Amino acid sequence: MTAPLVVANWKMNGSEALLRDVAKALVGRRGESDVVLAVPAIHLSLARALLQEGVRWASQDVHWLESGAYTGELSAEMIAQMGASHSIVGHSERRAQFAESDETVAKKANACFRAGIIPIVCVGESLEVRQAQQTEEVVCRQLEVVLAEIPTGSEGLIVAYEPIWAIGTGKEATPEMAQEVHVALKEMALKAGIHLDKVLYGGSVKEDNVAGLMLMPDIDGVLVGGASLSAQGFSELCTNAAAAQN
Ligand code: PGA
Repeated sequence: MTAPLVVANWKMNGSEALLRDVAKALVGRRGESDVVLAVPAIHLSLARALLQEGVRWASQDVHWLESGAYTGELSAEMIAQMGASHSIVGHSERRAQFAESDETVAKKANACFRAGIIPIVCVGESLEVRQAQQTEEVVCRQLEVVLAEIPTGSEGLIVAYEPIWAIGTGKEATPEMAQEVHVALKEMALKAGIHLDKVLYGGSVKEDNVAGLMLMPDIDGVLVGGASLSAQGFSELCTNAAAAQN
């Protein structure tokens, strides 16, 4: 069994001091979980200097073009130059607050492949969609648009299933609910000729609920927001994720 992938999404939080604490807390835990820290872009160079083998760093977004007159933006190539291995794209906060469409998200995922970094594509449904029992239809559609844009034969694409109603609310999806959606996403991708070997769950994941999620056969890791902002708590979460899979 491969080690679970635990991705921290700091959002617009954190500091150099927190990064130093997290780096220290994770030393010696490598091998237990595969850990990626998606820190604010301003901290990428410190992440590169501090993080040790087994812990990688990522951005939270990229622009889809390589360069140009896009004040304030960073291209996937720039992120790759910082030694980042991954970038989150299409987080629901960006879709909702920065009007990112499925098409924009697809172009961003494509840009990551162009630059040689792995996109972590977020998909997820609102509470209304879940109540209308349209979850699978909506998340599969979000992913379908991405699959149509990325080069055929692209390897390593990661999808994060993040129900919007579970983000930052303390109301996580049950492991069974997430498992069901993960299977639907993997099946849909396979039909499009892409094997998804990592589908992560995100939304109120904490040290004390990660084990139950990791017991599900199609939950390959987690994307962690709030609980990644404590060095001690996050390090425990990484240990608990790995222990559940052993
Ligand atoms: P949360 O955020 O863990 O604080 O719910 C997850 C995310 O938005 O990626």
